[in-house]
Amino acid sequence: MGMSSDAVSSSHVAGGTDLTERAQALLAQMTLAEKIGQMSQFNGGTENLREAVREGAVGSVLNEVYVEEVNELQRIAMLESRLGIPLLIGRDVIHGFKTIFPIPLGQAASWDPDLVERAAAISALEAASSGVNWTFAPMIDITRDPRWGRIAESLGEDPHLCGVLGSAMVRGFQGSSNGAERFSVKGSIAACAKHFAGYGAVESGLDYNTANIPENELRNVYLPPFKAALDEGVATFMSSFSDLNGVPAAGNEFLMKQILRQEWHFDGFVVSDWDAIRELSVHGFTADDRDAALAAAVAGVDMEMASTLYADHLPTLLAQGKISEALIDAMVCNILRLKLEMGLFDNPYTDPGSFAHPVNEQHLSVAKTAALRSCVLLKNEGDVLPLDKQTLESVAVIGPLADDGYEQLGTWVFDGESRHSHTCLQAIHALVGEEVDVRWAPGLRTSRCRSDEGFEEALSVARDSDAVLLFLGEESILSGEAHCRADIDLPGNQEQLIEAVAATGRPVILVVMAGRPLTLEAVLDKVSAVLYAWHPGTMGGPAIADLLFGVESPSGKLPVSFPRTVGQIPIYYARKNTGRPATLESITHIDEIDGRAPQTSLGMSAFHLDAGFTPLFPFGYGLSYTRFEYSDITTSAERIALGDSITVCARVRNTGNCVAEEVVQLYIRDLVGNVTRPVRELKGFQRVRLQPGCDVEVAFTLHTDELAFYDRNMTRVTEPGMFHVWIGDCCDTGLWSEFEIMAAAEHAD
Ligand code: NOJ
Repeated sequence: MGMSSDAVSSSHVAGGTDLTERAQALLAQMTLAEKIGQMSQFNGGTENLREAVREGAVGSVLNEVYVEEVNELQRIAMLESRLGIPLLIGRDVIHGFKTIFPIPLGQAASWDPDLVERAAAISALEAASSGVNWTFAPMIDITRDPRWGRIAESLGEDPHLCGVLGSAMVRGFQGSSNGAERFSVKGSIAACAKHFAGYGAVESGLDYNTANIPENELRNVYLPPFKAALDEGVATFMSSFSDLNGVPAAGNEFLMKQILRQEWHFDGFVVSDWDAIRELSVHGFTADDRDAALAAAVAGVDMEMASTLYADHLPTLLAQGKISEALIDAMVCNILRLKLEMGLFDNPYTDPGSFAHPVNEQHLSVAKTAALRSCVLLKNEGDVLPLDKQTLESVAVIGPLADDGYEQLGTWVFDGESRHSHTCLQAIHALVGEEVDVRWAPGLRTSRCRSDEGFEEALSVARDSDAVLLFLGEESILSGEAHCRADIDLPGNQEQLIEAVAATGRPVILVVMAGRPLTLEAVLDKVSAVLYAWHPGTMGGPAIADLLFGVESPSGKLPVSFPRTVGQIPIYYARKNTGRPATLESITHIDEIDGRAPQTSLGMSAFHLDAGFTPLFPFGYGLSYTRFEYSDITTSAERIALGDSITVCARVRNTGNCVAEEVVQLYIRDLVGNVTRPVRELKGFQRVRLQPGCDVEVAFTLHTDELAFYDRNMTRVTEPGMFHVWIGDCCDTGLWSEFEIMAAAEHAD
């Protein structure tokens, strides 16, 4: 069995044919064991790793970041292995290396692709200085379930936002746009689009669980970010741990052969997730290790991470005629081409002295900007924020996350160190100096703490202060891989702490650091303001202090809907209308139920009797210290032909008193479809900075191809018909207009 000839097409890479020829020339000299060696990834520190490299049994090493050891492994590979093939050195550089940026979900709240690209470029540069040349990022799994711990690593619920920001990460890591001249920038590294595919839809938000996604939804929602990353030239893909519609991803021919290779012509290579080939048998998809190696190889996993089933079984499978040498050659060729393109054969070594110190002023400044733009102001009653240090005499700083340099970093921080972190307490002291008396008490030892022994101290500082800043949320360990929660409210005794502090009557400002949306409805009316800071990274403190004291205005927008209660999950803005959509009027009965058993005659539309149909905070939502007024929406035409573009414009004015940034969002609705279309879909966004009293016209141009979707025959089509369009500051507001796409015959008339 051979791979499709598309498998070795080189659509992105300049000199692709040349690379293929060079890879094939090398392949011609390789033994079977050396070929399988290229397909094998070993963990750093594995016993006898150097010996295995010397034998040509290793194509890649992950988790080895001591540059001296990395250089030694490369030296052995280059000079002591028979063919001198360099190594790919992989690492999870997810949101920074030494300088830690906000978690990806936080970065997504910035809606700022340039900033996300810069953060990725810095992460790559810092990682490269330790010899890393490959990151397992971006993680572009669409997820609509905040119980899933890995939502922290994701870019949220929306295919468009995730595609744009995931592509920005690819550009930053690889130092190139659209795959042109990848890796020519010093310090660029190979990126990896993961986890292919459908991992974000694991049932009940439980990690590693089964995902069932109808093909139409898979193509319209879950796959577009991967296609966007591929179009940006992402070098590698990682298959998911999860089972998609009964076929675990690591053995899924539909995903890796049909979609990735045949439909998308991907010319890089696919790595399995950790041990995932062996786990095919645990899933009950294959009977034993040999079967599992066969299934993964045939499906198109080119490199095996951690387990050794390829090395153990591919030779037998070949001898039995179950796989062909052509299949193995095609897989190895995919891997060699990347090593050739990256220039590793010329120089795989790292001179750490040729790199600036990783945690430097410039990197910290970008990390601060990223944290600033990722924070979302959810509530600001009576404009309690920003605080004014001229008039404030004292402020209480309370909460376990106010002064914890480790917890503010978030999940997936292997290399960042808390000693580089600037905490909120430190930053507030630095910002207010002697002007404001800052009184500090943790209240709780950790976010999960169930004791109230620290309450009294916290309450005494609260009582004596003009305002209370409460830093609550989740510690890093509560989100990330394998860290899922069934309840997503504030853990431990935090709600009780809020209640007690609120009872002092002081204005309470809640700053939440968390790896996911939390259900905050129970505490919302007890506090005057809520600033959602995710896990903001190394520079979280200075960014949050600047926002609290009005040096900058908040400008983050939610990349994911916040449910009122877990019972609403999954809740997302791009929902289908149903035949009985709820309206605010249809659910007014809910108040009348009060104590009586719900009756089926009430409402007769799609809402929960006890939670309604709206989220607590919708996708795209985020307040500012100023007000932005939207006006004058126009479309460049009332009707356009297929293949044409339309421009939609609106004016945005800063009517408040401070300079601020706004993320202007464009949504559409395709009114009638061969398959039902979402009530709204994000199709564009722009960040604008406006001085008080100033305005700007924001224009979005949409080609009819951007309005395409997969129909019930899995064909990608743009259907003629009416479209609604909105420009606004959130998914459920905005100025409205409409336009029509004409059928071809109408156009000819
Ligand atoms: C498991 C995770 O699922 C994946 O995202 C990560 O890149 C690998 N392990 C390597 O650490």
